[in-house]
Amino acid sequence: MTAFQRFQHEKVQQIEAALDSLLPSTQLEPKQLHAAMRYSTLNGGKRIRAMLVYATGHLLEIQQQTLDSLASSIELIHAYSLIHDDLPAMDDDDLRRGKPSCHKAFDEATAILAGDGLLTLAFNALAKAKCSSEQKITCIQLLSQAAGSRGMVGGQAIDLANEGKSLSIAEIENMHLHKTGALICSCITLVASLKLTPDDAEYRHLKHYAECIGLAFQVQDDILDETSSTETLGKTQGKDKQADKSTYPSILGLKASKELTEDLYNEALLSLSHFDQRTEYLRDIAQFTISRIS
Ligand code: IPE
Ligand code: IPE
Ligand code: MG
Ligand code: MG
Ligand code: MG
Repeated sequence: MTAFQRFQHEKVQQIEAALDSLLPSTQLEPKQLHAAMRYSTLNGGKRIRAMLVYATGHLLEIQQQTLDSLASSIELIHAYSLIHDDLPAMDDDDLRRGKPSCHKAFDEATAILAGDGLLTLAFNALAKAKCSSEQKITCIQLLSQAAGSRGMVGGQAIDLANEGKSLSIAEIENMHLHKTGALICSCITLVASLKLTPDDAEYRHLKHYAECIGLAFQVQDDILDETSSTETLGKTQGKDKQADKSTYPSILGLKASKELTEDLYNEALLSLSHFDQRTEYLRDIAQFTISRIS
């Protein structure tokens, strides 16, 4: 096992435990709603957003308990976004993380409400985080901006409004930076805000790293939608073409899209070169972002 594989293994267990303790028990009413929330959040996903929180926390030497709350809040928002993304009114996907999507395992109304419940729980987790009230308010501000209509939700609206249209690369970049980049960026800025201010050079370097891998992550997602299999992805392969979405490979081709991920990776590493040490996990996550197969 490499040091990064050990880190990944340990942090997956850590985030699962943190999420498990935050999510209401299925013994609590409404039981079906809580079952759906737990079904779509636990035991699944690569947890790259949580990894980013822990890796940034490692760099800035932040205590684990605080990181658990930050990582949980972002993974909860991510899980909600996937439930809603799969709904018939959106991407209409029956498979997620190798299992029936939430609306298939339960029903559409439950899936909508489970998403709502997870989104709300995310901010409850932040409100309970172990840090100062001022730090919590900054985190709440950053996360609500990243996840809302000027961030992820806005990106999803752009994505849906443009099905069947051929976008320019600048337009696809803008869509990807919103629908995926913003939440990924928040994994780093939330943690950075505990020790740094946006004017600090270190904050700006970290934010630039985050923007690069946020975009690279969605370009790789687009590539995998074309090149991988449903079995490996755990979600239906070929969905983007089916819905006639503009993606990097559909406009640039696969080779140029792959090259773009490599350029973004190099740019991300350049941002990290401003730090003397403790960036090893952030570097490994950047590599993972562009080389992952699911
Ligand atoms: C899928 O995200 C949705 C996108 C933003 C591309 P992930 O690929 O991180 O999904 P999980 O959490 O590993 O299932
Ligand atoms: C989803 O993008 C982005 C969010 C959920 C915010 P996609 O629609 O490409 O994600 P997948 O491919 O279904 O995971
Ligand atoms: Mg989508
Ligand atoms: Mg989708
Ligand atoms: Mg996709």
